Amino acid sequence: MELQNIKQRFGIIGNDEQLNRALDIAVQVAPTDISVLVTGESGAGKEFIPQVIHAMSARKHGNYIAVNCGAIPEGTIDSELFGHEKGSFTGANDSRRGYFEVADKGTIFLDEVAELPLATQVRLLRVLESKEFIRVGSSKVQKTDVRVVAATNVNMVEAVSKGRFREDLYYRLNTVQITMPPLRERGNDILLIFRKFAADFAERYHMPVIRLDSEAQNMLLTYRWPGNVRQLKNVTEQISIIEQNREISGDIMSKYLPDYHDVKVPALMSAVDSDSQFSSEREILYKVLFDMKNDINELKKEMRQLLGGASVHDHKTSYDITKHDLGMVHAPMQHINEHIVDESHIIHNENEETIIQQGELVDDTLSLSATEEDLIRKALEKYSGKRKPAAKELGISERTLYRKLKEYKLEK
Ligand SMILES: Nc1ncnc2c1ncn2[C@@H]1O[C@H](COP(=O)(O)OP(=O)(O)O)[C@@H](O)[C@H]1O
Ligand SMILES: [Mg+2]
Repeated sequence: MELQNIKQRFGIIGNDEQLNRALDIAVQVAPTDISVLVTGESGAGKEFIPQVIHAMSARKHGNYIAVNCGAIPEGTIDSELFGHEKGSFTGANDSRRGYFEVADKGTIFLDEVAELPLATQVRLLRVLESKEFIRVGSSKVQKTDVRVVAATNVNMVEAVSKGRFREDLYYRLNTVQITMPPLRERGNDILLIFRKFAADFAERYHMPVIRLDSEAQNMLLTYRWPGNVRQLKNVTEQISIIEQNREISGDIMSKYLPDYHDVKVPALMSAVDSDSQFSSEREILYKVLFDMKNDINELKKEMRQLLGGASVHDHKTSYDITKHDLGMVHAPMQHINEHIVDESHIIHNENEETIIQQGELVDDTLSLSATEEDLIRKALEKYSGKRKPAAKELGISERTLYRKLKEYKLEK
């Protein structure tokens, strides 16, 4: 299949040589059962690789299971991956199949593989070498036929030298290595990706597309993007929602790339004592609101991960659903909240306190509720008054939405 078709199918934007090379290798190794290790910084798009490999392989009709190894507590990870027998530990009231059993004839994506405990690494090595595994609490050896694609953003050689990762397993996983390039090295792709995101968000929020003047464009091209594409998406969404003037200047852009000039001044701090940084109070409040949402969604995410760090798909599910479950597409609010590196957060908690200390608490609350009402109204409009999808989009429960509708007298 043409690389272009693959990009289209998976929504991968860009023509960067390193990106093309990564996808090219993925396509080439897809039909084999070779283990692949995907490396690259956080937010660089590593998760596309196992998806492409699975979809282009003979296993495409089998299950694709994505496991975030860093999100599963050490005490349950063996049982999650390999299953357990009834009574094998306190609370094991039933026997349970593990992901390696469920993914028989399919593909497992082991994200953040460096986080695996050493004991689990032993079990993983065994299943890779002999296709054999044993459920926790069992003595019966079982067979499974699974393709493994792993990903990491840590230096594996260092992890091996420090004894945190087994050398034999590293070589076993690393038969082929695919590296996703950092965004800062992708030149014009940065603007391409920006435009795509800007168009998407404009459509989602029913607002005109934001455009960048040449200075703002230059900033995107020269920024170091510690959170890579995830951060670019985040920034684009924030600007799309917040800025009334859809022509974005370098000045405006610098508010969203807080460490662009390498001076670490928390954005809101300076906003409070000099109005020039922020054009309106409402903007600040929007940001406070987003940050709070951020924290809530992070908590939700952690809860979800605690309740099980994997998503299971059978071949009938479309890629949309796969992406959905991987947390890649979700309610728009959660896009903002895709985890980006801390320093790229525009507002920090201490800044909220700053506002409160300035005695602006009342105004705060008022504007926040106006903003909330506005968001609720927009969400309802979008779904023609249907509460369920609207609540989902807002990232709140239907019950909460119901309560808010009463509160703001938005009920019909
Ligand atoms: N080239 C790209 N084109 C469009 N979206 C991308 C691209 N690369 C990454 N993304 C998006 O950026 C976000 C982060 O990608 P992800 O694969 O989760 O990063 P990683 O796993 O490397 O941390 C996802 O929403 C993904 O869809
Ligand atoms: Mg990831």
